[in-house]
Amino acid sequence: MTRRSVRRLLTALGAAAVLAPASLAAQDHENLQVLPSDIPRPQLSAIMRGFTQALGVRCSTCHVGEEGQPLSTYDMASDDKPMKRKAREMLRMVQAINGEYLAELPDRGEPAVRVTCATCHGGLRRPEPLADVLTKVAMDDGGDAAAARYRELRAEYFGGRAYDFSSGSLTGAMEALVGEERGADAVALGRVALEFHGESTVVHTMMGQALEAAGDTEAAVAAYRQALELDPDNRAAQRRLEALGGG
Ligand code: HEC
Ligand code: HEC
Repeated sequence: MTRRSVRRLLTALGAAAVLAPASLAAQDHENLQVLPSDIPRPQLSAIMRGFTQALGVRCSTCHVGEEGQPLSTYDMASDDKPMKRKAREMLRMVQAINGEYLAELPDRGEPAVRVTCATCHGGLRRPEPLADVLTKVAMDDGGDAAAARYRELRAEYFGGRAYDFSSGSLTGAMEALVGEERGADAVALGRVALEFHGESTVVHTMMGQALEAAGDTEAAVAAYRQALELDPDNRAAQRRLEALGGG
């Protein structure tokens, strides 16, 4: 790795832009394969603390050691924990994104925007889109379980960057469930969607589709009418109403 790409990586990771000369406070680490092995300890610590914040985890998530014991008892060099090996691949990925791909952007804006762990993780160990989380819970345990999960996640994470609580996550999951012929489960999520986003014509339209998939045509017609009340130009709702003979 060139000194310049090291600097880019460290800057992206929020660890002091200046790379101290190797002799200054340098600390030889045993098993650094991506970060420079002579990185000063304060910089390494800053990067590691950045990992814990970006992913909402502890040092012991990646390193061999016991929670509650002093860090000096940890074996930081060990690669035994799979999470550390995954994090190393992520480190390589972030380095490539900033150092190779973004660096090649023509007419790049100033100041350059850098990708960090938090860009994707936003405080989660595994940055899974909310629509996917809800779809999976609904497929495995049903729509009511998915609705309950939505409430739990919302109570814990609303206002942060971890999950997107806008209506799209719920309608996305509903659409996926309708595609899997799980209409009743989509309806269960639809009730939550209406509770939090009842002003959205899109949510009412999606609820109509879920109700149709669940075999409740009458309720579907009512949902499409509601969608059209909120937006008379809603073409999708118009078309479904006509198809159902309720226009
Ligand atoms: C998300 C996983 C992750 C978390 C959380 C994490 N680390 Fe690390 N740590 C790594 C990876 C990956 C490396 C190796 C980087 C490389 O190969 O360049 C590393 C390397 C280290 C090293 C150098 C070990 C050596 O001698 O090779 C130290 C020291 C360290 N971490 C301390 C910490 C501390 C202290 C914390 C908690 C504040 C922490 N780490 C949290 C993933 C993590
Ligand atoms: C471009 C987006 C992106 C960036 C940037 C990113 N990650 Fe990830 N990371 C992901 C995704 C997506 C997954 C889930 C992969 C999967 O399991 O399907 C993931 C998974 C992980 C995992 C495994 C989690 C698990 O439970 O299996 C770790 C650890 C991790 N990332 C650490 C990091 C660290 C540390 C950084 C910064 C150096 C980082 N990631 C930067 C997108 C990103």
